Amino acid sequence: MTRKNILVFRELPPDQLARLQAEHTVVQADPKKDRAAFDAALAQAQGLIGSSFPIDAAVLDRAPKLEVVSSVSVGVDNYALDELHRRGIVLCHTPGVLDETVADTVFALLMATSRRVVELSNLVREGRWQKNIGEDLFGFDVHGKTLGLLGFGRIGQAIARRAALGFGMPVLYHTRRPVDLAVQAPALQGHAHHRPLDQLLAQSDFVVAMLPLSDSTRGMVDAGLFAQMKPGAVFINGGRGATVDEPALLAALDSGHLRAAGLDVFAREPLPAESPLRTHARVTPLPHIGSATHETRHAMARLAVDNLLAVLAGRQPAAPYDLGAA
Ligand code: DGY
Repeated sequence: MTRKNILVFRELPPDQLARLQAEHTVVQADPKKDRAAFDAALAQAQGLIGSSFPIDAAVLDRAPKLEVVSSVSVGVDNYALDELHRRGIVLCHTPGVLDETVADTVFALLMATSRRVVELSNLVREGRWQKNIGEDLFGFDVHGKTLGLLGFGRIGQAIARRAALGFGMPVLYHTRRPVDLAVQAPALQGHAHHRPLDQLLAQSDFVVAMLPLSDSTRGMVDAGLFAQMKPGAVFINGGRGATVDEPALLAALDSGHLRAAGLDVFAREPLPAESPLRTHARVTPLPHIGSATHETRHAMARLAVDNLLAVLAGRQPAAPYDLGAA
């Protein structure tokens, strides 16, 4: 088989890098560290693999031989989908292997915001635990509360299972059409209920956004939606930061309408030092760790390598992204 040129633009685990090197000529260049090396390798690359860097029309213009982009992520908002489609370049991603891990992260944010885990742990660490804590530092129960999900794909359903089956929480979800639970999520039959958006917002104690970023979801969670949430609700974002109007979220927290927010994602990442979300007393921020466990990041890298090798060998990849539907 002819060796092709692969550009790796984010670190891969050594065993997965070795699989690529066994079949092809591999150049590693992180565009955030060495843009010149990245651009030079692009000119020869038939395959690209990595994540967290925008592959836009200008990047694609420098990659005339490109056949496939394999993203080590499920989200594809970093890629110029229409340009890839127009140029006949295959895009692959890593759905499925990260669902349970991201759901764990979102649940950690539900628990941390409601039980004030970070704040109270800091109280102990800083030597301020000098008497039994009083009501001013009590939290709120998570079990039995109503969870509202914006986005009910594989990850949303994994969150719903934890909530309904583990914490006895009624689950509401909003999608364009109700999901056929009997077929797609039998464990959630009788536990998860489709609701119009206004009803979901008015009834949920926790509103969890798991929305992909697209033209139709950018800025979707705005002042109007926050105003419709129950007073004292908690907002969690485990999808994409830019689906939320961050100034509107801050206003809802400052007014006391929302009790707290748990955020794994932000409109700009890393979160700029000057962002009020970084230190806000009602915000638990995380540095986009949804899928960041040893096991899951390795599984994502393995699937991305499988995808890349398959396309370069003329085989069907396990997880192509449907650019025709974008
Ligand atoms: C993804 O895969 O899109 C996640 O955001 C990475 O954690």
